[in-house]
Amino acid sequence: MWDRLYGQHSLEKLPWARQDPYPPLARAVRDGWIAPPGPILDVGCGLGTNSYWLASQGFRTTGIDVAAGAIAAARSDPRARGRNPTFRVDDILDSALPTGRYRGAVDVGCFHTLPPRLRRGFASGLCRALAPGAAYLLFWVAREETGAWGPPHRLSVGEVADAFEGMFRFRRVEYRPRQGRITRTVMRSRRPLATLAGYSAVLVRRDEPQPPRR
Ligand SMILES: C[S@@+](CC[C@H](N)C(=O)[O-])C[C@H]1O[C@@H](n2cnc3c(N)ncnc32)[C@H](O)[C@@H]1O
Repeated sequence: MWDRLYGQHSLEKLPWARQDPYPPLARAVRDGWIAPPGPILDVGCGLGTNSYWLASQGFRTTGIDVAAGAIAAARSDPRARGRNPTFRVDDILDSALPTGRYRGAVDVGCFHTLPPRLRRGFASGLCRALAPGAAYLLFWVAREETGAWGPPHRLSVGEVADAFEGMFRFRRVEYRPRQGRITRTVMRSRRPLATLAGYSAVLVRRDEPQPPRR
């Protein structure tokens, strides 16, 4: 599905195609929730905007995406200079990443695209790749968002907690209400996702992951 999407659309028209990092991610990094040098993982990195920004902030960054078209576009980005991220095609649900390597992860709009039956598999794939105690910065469109435009799944904090239970602990959750309407100007500004009601969370990988209680 994702490969078809990257193959059929002009990349700059994708709603997450931006030149700047996702603002809530930039804020969380400036607040010190993850610190260089990493290594850190950008899960579902898409066209690589956040990965390039993280690399520019001193993080050893690996951007992964299940779509080969996304990774090809990320690698050929003209921003590639100086300290660059590594990009690789990888499905976090069946990942070939080294176990326990990454000291942090960021996820801007990847987890929230998954249907409910795949959410626990995502959490275990990520848990396997992260070192104990690693922070995972997760951003998703909120259950409270009722507008027509946006991703099909809008998760409550409880649904996210169920998916990560036993593997991660919440350290912080912040709700950001919707900011106005999605207008043509907002679409052109390439910041439509940041306009929707959303959550920013910091989860930490448990030292010894436990099976879920239910
Ligand atoms: C909404 S886009 C966000 C892209 C990027 N994080 C950004 O903010 O620009 C979601 C991305 O997650 C990727 N993705 C979805 N499921 C995935 C999986 N199981 N493993 C790795 N990447 C996945 C998709 O291919 C897509 O590029």
